[in-house]
Amino acid sequence: MSGKLENKVVVVTGGNSGIGLATAKLFANEGAKVTITGRNAGTIETAVAEIGHNAIGIVSNVGDVKSFEPLYEKVDNAFGKIDVLVVNAGIMGMASLEDFTEDLFDQIVDVNYKGVFFTVQKALPFLNDGASIIITSSSVSEKGIPNGSVYVSSKAAERALVRAFAAELAVRKIRVNTLSPGAVNTPIFTKAGLSQDLSDGMNDFFANAVALKRLGRPEEIANGFLFLASDDSSYMTGVDLVIDGGFRDL
Ligand SMILES: NC(=O)c1ccc[n+]([C@@H]2O[C@H](COP(=O)([O-])OP(=O)(O)OC[C@H]3O[C@@H](n4cnc5c(N)ncnc54)[C@H](OP(=O)(O)O)[C@@H]3O)[C@@H](O)[C@H]2O)c1
Repeated sequence: MSGKLENKVVVVTGGNSGIGLATAKLFANEGAKVTITGRNAGTIETAVAEIGHNAIGIVSNVGDVKSFEPLYEKVDNAFGKIDVLVVNAGIMGMASLEDFTEDLFDQIVDVNYKGVFFTVQKALPFLNDGASIIITSSSVSEKGIPNGSVYVSSKAAERALVRAFAAELAVRKIRVNTLSPGAVNTPIFTKAGLSQDLSDGMNDFFANAVALKRLGRPEEIANGFLFLASDDSSYMTGVDLVIDGGFRDL
C-alpha cells in the first residue's frame, strides 16, 4: 500500500457494511486511523475485526441529531481531530408515487438528507482545517427511476448540499465533494425490505442498464473515496465523482 492516508483520522458513517466497509478497509490499509459507525452493534464488531487494525467502531444513528456530539467527542478522545469525513450512511426505499407513505418518506429523508446535513454540521468543531468531506450520493440522482422518487431526490439533495458546503467551508480549506456510485453489489435492497428474488431482479435490471453490463464492486467505489480523501484530489471541491460503469451519462 502507498500510505496515502498515513496517520489521517477518518470517520466513515455506515462503515459496517457494503461500500462503507470496503472504504474503511482500504483507508486502514493506507495508514489511516478509522472510526466506523452504524446502528448495528454486532455488524460493527464484526467489521472492526475484519478491518483488523487501526479501527474502532461506534454505534450511532444518523437519524438522531443528538447522537453526533457524543460520537465526535469519542473520536476526538481516541484519535484527535478529523482529517477525512465519509458521509456514507444511507437507506433506500421504493414505492409508487400513489403508495408512498409519510412514514417511509420520513425514514429516507431523516437519514439521507437531514442526517447528512447534521453529520457535517456537528462535525465542524472536530474537523481539522484542510479536511476532506465526501458524501455518498448516487448516479440515479439524475435519472428517472420508477418507484424511486424519494430516494433519488434525497440523493440529489446531497449533491446540492455539497455545492453549498464546499463554498462555505473553502475558507477553512476544507474540500467537500460527492461520490456517486451506480449499482453496486451490497445488501442495500434487502435491507430496504425487498425479498431476495426482488433484490436479485433489481440487480439484474441495473447490471443490464449499464454500459459495462455488470454491477460495481464495493472495492471499486472505495478507490474513488481514496482519491477524494487524499492529496491526489487536492484541487477538487464541490464536484461529483461518478463511478457507475456507464449508467448516468450513456
Ligand atoms: N449499493 C448501491 O447500488 C448504491 C448506489 C449508489 C449509492 N449508494 C449509497 O451508498 C451508501 C452505502 O450504501 P451500501 O450500498 O453500501 O448499502 P449498505 O450495505 O446497506 O450500507 C448502508 C450503511 O448505512 C448504515 N446506516 C443506515 N442507516 C443508518 C442510520 N440511521 N444511522 C447510522 N448508519 C446507518 C448501515 O448501518 P446499519 O445497518 O448498522 O444501520 C450501513 O452501514 C448509501 O448512502 C447508498 O445510498 C449505494
